[in-house]
Parts: sequence; C-alpha cells; structure tokens
Amino acid sequence: MCGIVGYIGKSNASEILTEGLKRLEYRGYDSVGIAVLNNNSIDLRKEKGMFNEVSSSLNFVSAEGNAGIGHTRWATHGVPCKRNAHPHSTPEGDVVLVHNGVIENFSELKQELISKGHTFESDTDTEVIAHLISENMKSNSDTLDAFIKSLKQLSGSYAIVALLKKENKLYVAKKNSPLVLGLGENEYFCASDIPAMIGKTKTFLPMKDGEIAVLSGEGVLLMDMDKNGVKKETIEVDWDIEKAEKGGYPHFMLKEIMEQEHSVQDSLSADVSSALELLNKHEKIDIIACGTSYHAGLIFKYLLETRLKKKADVIIASEYSYSASPDSETLVFAISQSGETADVIQSLKFAKEKGAKSIALTNIVGSSITRMADKTIFMNAGPEIGVAATKTFTSQLAVIYKLVFPERDLSIIKKIIAESLKNKEKIKEYAENMLNKNSIFFIGRGLSYPIAREGALKLKEISYLHAEAYPGGELKHGPLSLIEEGVPVVVLSPNDNTAGKMMGNLKEVSARGAYSVVLTDNKQIEGQASASIPVVSVDDPLLYPFSLIIPLQFLSYYVSTMRGLDPDKPRNLAKSVTVE
Ligand code: AGP
Repeated sequence: MCGIVGYIGKSNASEILTEGLKRLEYRGYDSVGIAVLNNNSIDLRKEKGMFNEVSSSLNFVSAEGNAGIGHTRWATHGVPCKRNAHPHSTPEGDVVLVHNGVIENFSELKQELISKGHTFESDTDTEVIAHLISENMKSNSDTLDAFIKSLKQLSGSYAIVALLKKENKLYVAKKNSPLVLGLGENEYFCASDIPAMIGKTKTFLPMKDGEIAVLSGEGVLLMDMDKNGVKKETIEVDWDIEKAEKGGYPHFMLKEIMEQEHSVQDSLSADVSSALELLNKHEKIDIIACGTSYHAGLIFKYLLETRLKKKADVIIASEYSYSASPDSETLVFAISQSGETADVIQSLKFAKEKGAKSIALTNIVGSSITRMADKTIFMNAGPEIGVAATKTFTSQLAVIYKLVFPERDLSIIKKIIAESLKNKEKIKEYAENMLNKNSIFFIGRGLSYPIAREGALKLKEISYLHAEAYPGGELKHGPLSLIEEGVPVVVLSPNDNTAGKMMGNLKEVSARGAYSVVLTDNKQIEGQASASIPVVSVDDPLLYPFSLIIPLQFLSYYVSTMRGLDPDKPRNLAKSVTVE
C-alpha cells in the first residue's frame, strides 16, 4: 500500500502535493517523491526517508508548475532507497508516473522491454509501467490509446497517475487499488484517499475498477477501457483531517479490519516462487513467531502436516532456543509482520548458527529478518497502524494458503472476507453483553483453535479483559471449574468435522450457566446457545479461518470502544517489539 496524489490547475502544484503527501503518510513512509511539470520539463525530486525529512531536505515546495504527481511509498518490490522511490521515469523523462498496487507480470514485461532496448534503474514493478507506456506511444499517436494499451498488458492491481512531458494532463487508472478524484474550480485532484484532498475541495468522485480518467485544466474525462464515457454522481464529504486520515472511520483498527477484502488480494499476489522451492526441499520445518503471527503459524503447521505431510513444529520465538534443536536439515519459517521482533530475530540467528536454512514472511521490505533469511516473502498488506494485528493476520494466512495450495485459485478468500465484513453491525450487540465481565473464554477445535486463540488475544490486548482460549476438548481437564452463571464462552463451531464435539462442549458450558455465544453457520447448533454470531459458509472447510476471524476482530474492537478505550494504542504495548 502506498499513497498517491496528483494535481492540475492554476495553483502551485508542489504545495498541494506536499500537503497531500503529508496526509497520506499513514499509507507508506519508507520514501517520498514528487514530479512537477513546468514548460515541457519535469522537475523530479525523491529520496528514501520519512516525509518530513525528505520534503524539507529536497525543498519540495520550491518546485514550480501547475501540474504534478506525488507518492509516499510502502515497498513491495525492491528495498527502500532513492532508486526505488516514486515517481518513476523513463530515462528520456517522457513518461513519469506513480503507482500503488502490485503488477504480477512485471518480470515478463521487463524482459520484453529490455529486448527492445529499454534500460531500467530500479527493482520496482512501477518503472516497467512507465517504459511500457513510452514504448506503446511509439506506435500510437494518441497518448490515451497508448495508455489504455499499456493497462491492458498489465495483470495485478494498480492505481496509476502518469504525467507526460509534452502534455499538460494527468492520465489516471484504477484496478483493485483505491483512487478518488477531487473536483475543484478549474482545478482537479486525484489521490489514493480523501485526506490528501481535504481543505481543497469537498466534491469527490471515487473511481471504479477498470475506469480511466484524463485530468486537464479544462476538466475531467472519465471513461471505461473502451473509451466509453462514464457518468456518475459526485459525493460531498465534509470530514475534518483526523477523521479523513482514518478513511472516515473512528479508528485505524476499524479501517484496517474493513481493508482486509483488498489487502488479502494483494497478499495473494505475493511472489512465493523461490520460497516455495526451498520449502519443497525440506521435510522438517520449525515455524517461529510471536503473538498473532504465532497463531498464523499454528494454522501453517496444521496445513503442512495434514496436506503436505511434512513434519512441522510451531514454537513461540522467545522459547525457541530452549526447546528446539535445529540442524542443517531444518528449515526455519519465521513469521513477523514487522520483521523487527527481537525474539524472532534472536531465534532466527540461533537457527542459522546451527546450520538451518530459513524463510521469512513479513510485511516490511528491508526489515531485519529479510536481511537474515535465505528467502523472504512479502505479504503486501500495507502499513498497519493499529497495534492490534488484523489485516496482517489474514494476509499471513493468505500467503500460507498460497504456499500450501500453489495451484489453486484462492480468489474465493477475498469473497469470504467481503461477505464476513457485512456483518459488522450485528456484532455490536454481542459486545454489549461482554463489557463488564471478569473473564471470557474462547473454545475451538482443529483449525478453529488457533482462531479462538487469536480472538482471545485481540480481546485482551485492546479491552483489558481477561480472555483465554482452549481447545474444546481441554475444558474438562481443568478450565471447566471456572465456568459459572453468566461467564461468557465464545464457541467457534463452523460446519466442519469439529461440529459434533463442539456441540458437546456447548452443552457442557451451558449446563454450568455460561453465557454462550456460538460462531456458526450450522442451524442446529445455533439454537443451543445463549446467542449466535453468523459465520459465512465456505465450500472447503479449510477456509473457515477467514470467515471466523472477522467477527472476532469486530467483537474485540466493539468491546474496547464501548469500554471507552482507544483500540489503536493499547496500554503497555508497542506495534513493534524490539526488546527480548
Ligand atoms: C497482535 O495484535 C500483537 N500486536 C502482537 O501479538 C504481535 O502479533 C506480535 O508482537 C508479533 O509481532 P510481529 O508479527 O511484528 O513479529
């Protein structure tokens, strides 16, 4: 996820771009850049670093011109550095552009362009788009035709804004990445998100996938890929800046929960090929991770053992050096959203010293574990600001499923999540019943057990209520003594091979007076509980984790906010835990 902004009008573009980028920094912050058109020449300034330092050291606002584009980057292809920062340009500078998304066929396109004499300076997929447009302009006198032809050659996701040296226009396109147009008086804007344009206009036109816009001083031409004009209603938005940065949501956590439909899609586009090659060479896999990432690891272990018939252990990273004995036959699979978790770094170091090979799964390009592991997979979830991991959990799972089922079409995951997100409002009432409880229990079996653990972790970390998860079968071995009148028990009982035994567990806790909330798509079990939360049904039971986790994320979010807490910044916790 990156932040894009574009402007064309009568004002100084660099000031508008600079202000817009500042508000989009939450979308990416490893490098920043702008390009401004002035009398058929483009002034391009970019550098690695946070917005404040780069924009002042390169004096962004001194760039002159009335049209320009800007970008704040969250690396997906290539480490954060000046060379990989956007905007990207052809060497001749005829096409300069910014992009958000992942171009899946960029390697093939790059090879083809190299064979036609193009030379590249970055590792990014974006630079390829600039060259492609430039190449297509050689055979198309109409720039729009060349732009559309190039878009048709791309597979993957994109929001693109291109600036051409010889034209006072912005060429804009969107597919599976957000892009909104802003309409002012004789001035026009485009950006990944409304905050970038707040204060400049209140009238917006969100673009749909497959739409193209050409912005000039005269107005906006909106069309489909066949150049048919598109007419649609504008929307009026009167948000303040704080609300706008959170996409209109009161908290980043809620925004990030709602983003999952798109973030999993970007994760499913992740390049897993070389990691998969290494995985296939090993029979003994040690998965190391902490917190939420550990829960993703539990699911990975289950799938590795039951589907790929590999021997897998999942070990909490801080315990690894005490309990494991890796050797040269071991493959260590380190999962860490931040890539900076000290416990993971230390255990990875320990395993490497013993001769183990390693794969890192992370969200952060250039993070410490990527420099240690033999292979790295980037989950492409975009920045997660809320301390509680939400979208990065489903992204970890999406990548894990891609590794286990490389030949399978997994696009159904996006649909399951989109359906599950629709139940947001329904979850509120269940949250109300949990506000003032001392302890809340979560139970599940099989693949639902790691999800029960993740539900309990989410709840305890942001609502400060005691929450614990158990495998359903384990209750009778101790925890059942804690169940008495009114104690909430969240029962994860999807319609899979665990349903029969989970029904038994539900009866067990109900008989002791528990306030049982069952998460199920099984009508039979629904009627047996105090309350039931709907779960989206799936054709393959292995996909239930995706439909079970969304209601649990909502539940913890609502309990936290109803208790008057800030879920984005839970006490005593940090997003990245860099101490052991
Ligand atoms: C999850 O909501 C937590 N914030 C925490 O458990 C987190 O998952 C853990 O600290 C691991 O972080 P990592 O994935 O960045 O290594």
